[in-house]
Amino acid sequence: MNLKKLVLRAEAKFMKTSMLLFFAPGRVNLIGEHLDYNGGLVLPCAIDLGIYGVVAPRDDALVRCFSENVPFLGVIEFSLSQLMYEKKHGWANYVKGMLKETKATCGFDLYVRGNLPNGAGLSSSAALEILVGTIVNRLENRQMSATAIALCGQKAENNFIGVQCGIMDQFVIAHAQEGHAMLLDTSNLSFSLVEANFLDYCLVIGNTNKRRALSDSKYNERRSECEQGLRDLNTVLDIPYLCALKAADLDKYAYLIDNPVVFKRVRHVVTENERVKKAFEALKLRNLQEFGKLLNASHLSLKHDYQVTGLELDTLVALHQAYGAIGARMTGAGFGGCMIALMPKAHLNEVLREISQEYQQITHLVPDFYLVTAGKGANQYGY
Ligand code: GLA
Repeated sequence: MNLKKLVLRAEAKFMKTSMLLFFAPGRVNLIGEHLDYNGGLVLPCAIDLGIYGVVAPRDDALVRCFSENVPFLGVIEFSLSQLMYEKKHGWANYVKGMLKETKATCGFDLYVRGNLPNGAGLSSSAALEILVGTIVNRLENRQMSATAIALCGQKAENNFIGVQCGIMDQFVIAHAQEGHAMLLDTSNLSFSLVEANFLDYCLVIGNTNKRRALSDSKYNERRSECEQGLRDLNTVLDIPYLCALKAADLDKYAYLIDNPVVFKRVRHVVTENERVKKAFEALKLRNLQEFGKLLNASHLSLKHDYQVTGLELDTLVALHQAYGAIGARMTGAGFGGCMIALMPKAHLNEVLREISQEYQQITHLVPDFYLVTAGKGANQYGY
């Protein structure tokens, strides 16, 4: 993207000069799915696709925003004193939610362009929230930490948008460092970085292009199933969240969970947490074969126990595995969206073409592929 030209278009639209440029990336989760609302470990990284925002402060409490990705919505205008969800405002509701959570006081004109596919599970919504948080922090000269911005983003999603998401997406987007994945302990928000170096393999993101219909309500449903599992276990144990249970102790306490569906959800959660620990060590040691095996095991658990995959994700994962991936799995919330695969770099384009054709025959959908590297977190951009 030509950033100079983007700024010029923004300045022309709002008839301003010296506008400031910000960027917030999307994210991909390498492993540790549906653990961030269970006090578990996750291993995401930011990617080098994301959302750019060009902004100028105003001296009133109005916010005007325009997205080049949704030009037909035109310039959306609202006041900081009236931050209400309005369906017709589409993407700008994420802006409003974030302004509400950060208690913003300075109006601004915002011009946005993203190169992240929307609703594909690469966290376009969290990217937008963190973009706005970073802008508020800068325009109002606040000293909000990246963690504080991330927590506001999560609250915006929970309270304003109505998705009971965990903290993973917003946290990694606010904190990420280039070239690194982040092991985040969602029980206390401590984290360590590990180089995202896949040697002779390439991190491929495959978009199933299956619409994630119902994903929000299914997401909230999984969350309450986990809460049920925790309540059942706590009739005897005293654990603050599901990931406090060791996988080795699961059989011992299985009798506490009557509902077989709830038991499967719990089994995914506690076994996945163990896989994340092992995957972090494997990545640190550059043991990619082991890392890949853990990705494959994670997908199976999400398919059979957590039941958030479906034909499209399962097909795209299986095809990558058949065509040489050393590991592949769905990523994000599931029910459509994206998967990741570690593919040998050699002959990658030919291989992806084959995979695409076979996927189309089975699902009648055309997949998209993104070859990404681990990018940096949200920031003001010099260009
Ligand atoms: C979505 C949510 C995250 C996380 C993942 C599943 O991306 O926003 O908080 O729960 O699903 O791991």
